[in-house]
Order: sequence, then C-alpha cells, then structure tokens
Amino acid sequence: MDKITVDSLAKINLGLNVIRKRDDGYHDLETIFIPLLLADKITFSKSNEFSFRTDSDLLNQLNDNLIIKAIRLLEDFTKRKFVLDIFVEKIIPIGGGLGGGSSNAATTLKAINKMFDLGLDYTQLSSLAIELGSDVPYFLNPVTSYAESRGELLYPLNIEIPYPILIINPRIKIDTAWAFKKIKPVPPVKNLRQIFQESLADFDKLKSYVKNDFEEVVFNEFPLLKQIKEELYKQGAEFSLMSGTGSTVYGIFFNLQKAYLAEEYFKQNYFTYLNNPFTKGSIT
Ligand code: C5P
Repeated sequence: MDKITVDSLAKINLGLNVIRKRDDGYHDLETIFIPLLLADKITFSKSNEFSFRTDSDLLNQLNDNLIIKAIRLLEDFTKRKFVLDIFVEKIIPIGGGLGGGSSNAATTLKAINKMFDLGLDYTQLSSLAIELGSDVPYFLNPVTSYAESRGELLYPLNIEIPYPILIINPRIKIDTAWAFKKIKPVPPVKNLRQIFQESLADFDKLKSYVKNDFEEVVFNEFPLLKQIKEELYKQGAEFSLMSGTGSTVYGIFFNLQKAYLAEEYFKQNYFTYLNNPFTKGSIT
C-alpha cells in the first residue's frame, strides 16, 4: 500500500469529573467520550523524502505536531524509518476540547501500522498512544465509551445518542495543562457511567448530575463560553455542556429543526458543526 487517506474523527465529552491528582502529576478522571462525524482528513503517501503539509496555518505554526511525534515514536519502537509525504486537511478546531490533535496521533499510529504491515496489536498501539497524550488511546477505537484513569482505561458502551448535537467553537485556544492546574479535584457524587446508562432518556436527570468540572475555571477566564451555553439553552437545547477543557460548548437537541435554526444563529460568529445521527453512515 503506497498511499492511504483516512478520516480522523473528533469527540466530545459527555461529563468530565476530575477525581484526584496523582503522584505522577497527572489527574485521574472519569468521562464519557462520544465520537462525532466531524473529521480531519489525513493522506499518507510513501515518498523519497519526508514532508508535512497542511491547509491549516495554525497547525503549520505548531512545533509539537502530534502526527510527526507519532511517527517518531513508531520509528523508535520498531527501529525502522517511515519516509512519507503527509497532507492534513484540518477541519477540527485546534485546542478546542474536541480531541483533534489526539485523534490525528491515533489515526497516524493505525495508518502506519497498516501501510507498513507492522503487525502491532491494540495493546501495543495503546501503550504507544498514551505516551503521546491522555486522550490518544480513545481514538484507536472511537466509539461511545466510558473512560477512567488518565482516559486510557476504556469501556465501550454500545450506546449512541439518537439526537442532533450542535457544536459551537469560538476559536479560543485553551491550554490543557493550565486548566488542570487551576482545578481542585473532587470525587464525584455519582458514577458517570451509571448516570449515563440510567438517564439517557431523561435529560432533566442528565442536567442535574452530568457536569464538566472544568466549566467553572474556564468560564471564569472566558465568560463568552458561559454565554454560549446559556444561549444554547435559549435556542432550545435540552442539554448543554463544555467539551474537555474547552473552548467548545455543545448542545443536544430533541428537535432537528430547532438545531438547524440554532446553527444558523451561531454560525454568524463562530465555528459550528451539527452532528446529525440521521444522516450518518456509520460513526465507528
Ligand atoms: O496528556 P496530555 O498531553 O493531553 O496532557 C496535557 C497536560 O494536561 C499534562 O501535561 C497534564 O498537566 C495535564 N493532564 C492531567 N491529567 C490528565 C490529563 C492531562 O493533569 N488526566
């Protein structure tokens, strides 16, 4: 296989509880990852010299590009060289709590494993993935999942949210390390997996129990994000929450028409994406 083009999906967090600070400096958390149909496209072509190209100025400026880091890590692990031309069509907002960088890293590990017949299994890929970032293992198998520890202990839930989800991102870039530093961890009152499984049809219950612990600190620093959440409710969302450490805020709607109208409203000023489960082929 000389060339491969792959979709690199985004995610949202339905709930995010930061439970405790660990001795290694990271935090234990619990969350539910939901995959979106929103995706970057990455093309890998075997080549005579290494090159990385993208249509995103922001990605071009980053010196810690996770796609290149993933390739270097695989080279160290396999003691081989992967000389590629890589092109990234960047759609997912960067630093927006949608996991775009982590997804690109996991997609790269999988694509190279396939292209060069490396024969690495899920466990091997997963231990490389966690070296690249806490959210990277999830994107090796991006299905709706409950996650613990740093986010690498994953339990697929076999559930899909059967409603439109409207994603709003005001292009504010949030520094994950900063957000974790600001937070005071507290063990959650109720286990998130249990709440999710019991309350998927009861959005009032979801609203009272499902929180994102980062909202308080991030909303304090960026009040616009709180306003977006309030506006999502005004526009008819049944449930709204910030994803990850922000800056994306999403709303789940029962009514597709309302979701379309809300998207029209927000897209005048912000990046928007309407994840419509009724138009999808497969989200796995
Ligand atoms: O793992 P990742 O590179 O995404 O993490 C970025 C930063 O966020 C880490 O350096 C750490 O400070 C913080 N973090 C944390 N606990 C986690 C995930 C991230 O403290 N579970």
